[in-house]
Amino acid sequence: MALRIDLVSLFPDFFASPLASGLIGKALARGIATVEVTNPRDFTTDKHHKVDDEPYGGGVGMVMKPEPIFAAVESLPVLPKRQVILLTPQGQPMTQPLLQTLATYDQLVMICGHYEGVDERVLDLVTQEVSLGDFVLTCGEIPALALLNGVIRLLPGTVGKTDSLKYESFEAGLLDYPHYTRPPEFRGMAVPAVLRSGDHGAIAAWRQQQQIQRTRQRRPDLYEQWRQQGGEVGLSAGE
Ligand SMILES: C[S@@+](CC[C@H](N)C(=O)[O-])C[C@H]1O[C@@H](n2cnc3c(N)ncnc32)[C@H](O)[C@@H]1O
Repeated sequence: MALRIDLVSLFPDFFASPLASGLIGKALARGIATVEVTNPRDFTTDKHHKVDDEPYGGGVGMVMKPEPIFAAVESLPVLPKRQVILLTPQGQPMTQPLLQTLATYDQLVMICGHYEGVDERVLDLVTQEVSLGDFVLTCGEIPALALLNGVIRLLPGTVGKTDSLKYESFEAGLLDYPHYTRPPEFRGMAVPAVLRSGDHGAIAAWRQQQQIQRTRQRRPDLYEQWRQQGGEVGLSAGE
């Protein structure tokens, strides 16, 4: 069954270009996943189509009303393995393992917040809260697109060679190794000789060592986790 993604958003036009471009556009055209956008504004019952209101207790900003969001989510089909995700800075951080888990679902419903966020009672609909990181954006559409992109990328057929998924950052608990292409020398910066040696064993060893070294330097937290999970034990001979 192709993954179905339902975006619940006040700004459906936001998604037009990202969903039509690049590998995601191709994956959707091939039916690897489907994406539908549902606008809570279409489910309002008052004549002004009001989707937000002032916060109880006072304070700045507006809050997204619960009724249009409930009605929008409840209008959607329910597939067997389904997650209803609220994008919020207060959620679980978006990581590669989380994307890998979500890529096994039949349906992901993503609720995009605005203003001060959604009425707390919307959490009654939600099975998972996800954050793009420790910062605050104006809207949930950008994190929803990031999540959608990262999940569809993992579905079989989206990325040409499945091997190119295996060697990316975070897949083996380490950052990726450095990449080079032609020309062999650019502004005095030469491509490392080993990469031009044709010695596949030496190239693999160099790349692995680069992965370890740059993870240790840039992300000591990841490096420690990798080591504790026995990363070094799994290294090939010669490392
Ligand atoms: C201005 S933010 C609301 C922030 C909220 N008052 C808070 O401080 O936690 C508006 C909306 O943008 C989205 N958003 C902003 N930053 C985000 C992040 N880091 N991760 C996920 N969603 C985010 C959420 O959907 C949120 O409801």
